[in-house]
Amino acid sequence: MWTSLGARSEAAGARAASGRFWAVVLGAAAGLFLLGFLIGWFAKPTDKKTSLSTHEDMRTAFMAEMKAENIKQFLYNFTQLPHLAGTKENMHLAQQVQAEWEKFGLDSVQLVHYDVLLSYPDDTKPNYISIIDEHGNEVFNTSLSEPPPPGYEAVRDVVPPYSAFSAQGVPEGELVYVNYGRTEDFFTLEREMGINCTGKIVIARYGKIFRGNKVKNAELAGAKGIILYSDPADYCAPGVEPYPNGWNLPGGGAQRGNVLNLNGAGDPLTPGYPAKEYAYRLDKTSGVGLPKIPVHPIGYHDAESLLRNMGGHAPPHSSWKGNLNVSYNIGPGFTGNYSTRKVKMHIHSNNEVRRIYNVIGTIRGTVEPDRYVILGGHRDSWVFGGIDPQSGAAVVHEIVRSFGKLKNKGWRPRRTVIFASWDAEEFGLLGSTEWAEENAKVLQARGVAYINADSSVEGNYTLRVDCTPLMYSLVYSLTKKIPSPDEGFEGKSLYESWYKKNPSSEYKEVPRINKLGSGSDFEAYFQRLGIASGRARYTKNRKADKFSNYPVYHTVYETFELVEKFYDPTFIKQLTIAQLRGKLVYELADSQVIPFNSTDYGEALKGYSNRISKLAKKHEEQLKLYKVSFDPLFSAVMNFSKAAAEFHRRLEQVDKKDSVAVRIMNDQLMLVERAFTDPLGLPGRKFYRHVIFAPSSRNKYAGESFPGIYDAMFDIESKADQHEAWEEVKRQISIAAFTVQAAADTLKEVA
Ligand SMILES: *[C@@H]1O[C@H](CO)[C@@H](O)[C@H](O)[C@H]1NC(C)=O
Ligand SMILES: *[C@@H]1O[C@H](CO)[C@@H](O)[C@H](O)[C@H]1NC(C)=O
Ligand SMILES: *[C@@H]1O[C@H](CO)[C@@H](O)[C@H](O)[C@H]1NC(C)=O
Ligand SMILES: *[C@@H]1O[C@H](CO)[C@@H](O)[C@H](O)[C@H]1NC(C)=O
Ligand SMILES: *[C@@H]1O[C@H](CO)[C@@H](O)[C@H](O)[C@H]1NC(C)=O
Ligand SMILES: *[C@@H]1O[C@H](CO)[C@@H](O)[C@H](O)[C@H]1NC(C)=O
Ligand SMILES: *[C@@H]1O[C@H](CO)[C@@H](O)[C@H](O)[C@H]1NC(C)=O
Ligand SMILES: *[C@@H]1O[C@H](CO)[C@@H](O)[C@H](O)[C@H]1NC(C)=O
Ligand SMILES: [Zn+2]
Repeated sequence: MWTSLGARSEAAGARAASGRFWAVVLGAAAGLFLLGFLIGWFAKPTDKKTSLSTHEDMRTAFMAEMKAENIKQFLYNFTQLPHLAGTKENMHLAQQVQAEWEKFGLDSVQLVHYDVLLSYPDDTKPNYISIIDEHGNEVFNTSLSEPPPPGYEAVRDVVPPYSAFSAQGVPEGELVYVNYGRTEDFFTLEREMGINCTGKIVIARYGKIFRGNKVKNAELAGAKGIILYSDPADYCAPGVEPYPNGWNLPGGGAQRGNVLNLNGAGDPLTPGYPAKEYAYRLDKTSGVGLPKIPVHPIGYHDAESLLRNMGGHAPPHSSWKGNLNVSYNIGPGFTGNYSTRKVKMHIHSNNEVRRIYNVIGTIRGTVEPDRYVILGGHRDSWVFGGIDPQSGAAVVHEIVRSFGKLKNKGWRPRRTVIFASWDAEEFGLLGSTEWAEENAKVLQARGVAYINADSSVEGNYTLRVDCTPLMYSLVYSLTKKIPSPDEGFEGKSLYESWYKKNPSSEYKEVPRINKLGSGSDFEAYFQRLGIASGRARYTKNRKADKFSNYPVYHTVYETFELVEKFYDPTFIKQLTIAQLRGKLVYELADSQVIPFNSTDYGEALKGYSNRISKLAKKHEEQLKLYKVSFDPLFSAVMNFSKAAAEFHRRLEQVDKKDSVAVRIMNDQLMLVERAFTDPLGLPGRKFYRHVIFAPSSRNKYAGESFPGIYDAMFDIESKADQHEAWEEVKRQISIAAFTVQAAADTLKEVA
């Protein structure tokens, strides 16, 4: 049914909007429209034209309400002060957001607090790293802060660059350069070069993977400390000036960030349960995911000084060299006259329990108030948060304002919409995870979808979407109805510019959509609770732009001016993201039939199962020897695809006036994602319960498909007990096959 609603919205759009763009869209959607028209005609013969056009007027009004200028004002407002989690400034911003959401017209807006473990530098004992000579004299020290951007010199309470949750300590030792600090980098060092990091201080460049994984790898390699630095090769685009004249990272800028390995636990002291007043807390020293060694981030000026006289082995490969004027020798230690020098870290940050505040606002649904669609994004930032998160929070604010406008005209969505401004995302997704923990039972029973709203621009090239396969169709159909903001695509749709600039490599003739990994607040909702989730933002050119994240990520240079001058001067990219995030929420909350497509999930499962079995084929002899077969998984995937096709056939025929029949099928759609969770969780990662997707064990940012099987097979050739290792692969295949089959069964006709 939602296709016909979608098609009608296109027809309405064609009437309302200026000619060319809609003519193109209408042409492309003519077939869909005809189908929708026929379904609509025969399924709802008594539908009154008036109520339909009211629906359409509301959609059009919602889209027309959102303005680039408002997003700009909100971004300015949110970025004038630092909003570090656990500080007064961020509590005040929570109160401001609460007051404004109330004013916008939401039904209820609550502050919900938790007391969670956070981490801050010690004001009286600064963190730094030095080079010491043979007498222990500190002959070089790294800088204690970043040079402030122009106009912000007088701002107090800018937290200096630090690695949140670092262990305290003053280790000294020889330095070893470990490239990006990835699993494969340590394999190269240990297995090919015979370098032992035990007792050493390692230095890793930022980029490629989540920093917490680097710290974990260093710890496992025996390092007694780890320095993280931003290499110009990874944080400067060629031909671009450093901020404030351009958007590159200046030499004195350093990336803040938490270095936890929480694996979805939320607050380190209350894993699995909300950090309320009555919560039982682990001892501060034995919290989940805390690193055991000191960690500290530096910029490339300081990194050049540390790396300048590195001795020992030459880099194993040219890919280990960055763009500093140094040898990129691996070490251990310095060369020639400097061989007696060592590196010393001085880390005195403290972990402390502090109060954080989520803002939770709702619009009660009319027909199905007990079904929830959530739009959530974080409010806390490392410093000003120009991009991360306020370019996202400003978009959420404008979406909430626009929904409020609709509501004030008498409109309400069919389902309840929940808006969330999360706190302490930067400290390990804490606010969003604690709220998910507190409300887990209700969310499992009633959560239809979660849309994440972190940074809305990390580049200005094209759209980037990561979402569940259930949302592919919806994302494609909505982007066909949103105008492209890109130069050279005037009159074209967002879908067209997105497809042109980043076509899918797996599927023919559609734009690329990525798997969900982690690194933002959707994690607890998708990976733990199994609520269908998605995220969207404007991004860089993944082929041409080789820098990581965006150059000034998590530095003091993430200002309002950075966004306004270099990323989105007219705020049209952010408006486009507001339109997409807003429309996703609108359609998920207001369509009579939840606009999920389980057929697409079946297709995705086919791709993932083929890929994982191909990986296994590299071990053909072992597969035979240990009788490992993927056939049950293939069978379950086939059964799922069949069940999905039959489900959607039945859905087309369901009597839309029979509210119970519609509700039955909607519940099946809502519970598809849930059916992919395993209550026992993945091995060693009990809060990652989704069997199809998980954050990669080696890079929290990336999504991995069939993670249980993938991890069981990872580096399997080097495991001592091959029999045991392949038994675990077999166990994981059977869990995957069972889970996919169980999900298929939920789609079958109920009786
Ligand atoms: C942001 O907006 C709020 C509400 O309008 C206002 O009270 C506050 O002073 C503004 N802050 C800044 C820094 O502009
Ligand atoms: C480094 O800092 C230490 C402690 O403040 C100080 O004693 C030392 O002189 C500094 N070294 C340099 C080269 O500035
Ligand atoms: C590395 O060195 C430590 C201590 O020096 C030693 O205990 C350990 O066995 C060494 N590891 C390897 C793989 O040689
Ligand atoms: C690179 O460093 C060497 C000495 O370490 C120096 O002689 C040379 O001028 C430097 N090159 C550049 C381009 O800075
Ligand atoms: C090493 O030190 C000696 C004596 O101070 C000096 O003559 C020589 O130039 C130094 N070598 C380098 C490479 O700095
Ligand atoms: C924005 O787009 C222009 C034109 O493509 C490009 O030159 C510039 O580098 C982009 N800015 C950023 C921050 O990526
Ligand atoms: C689901 O997606 C497939 C394409 O992947 C499409 O053929 C089918 O029409 C879609 N079904 C619905 C109900 O949108
Ligand atoms: C798939 O369905 C067939 C037919 O119902 C059934 O025999 C088979 O066991 C199912 N596969 C799995 C893995 O359950
Ligand atoms: Zn963020």
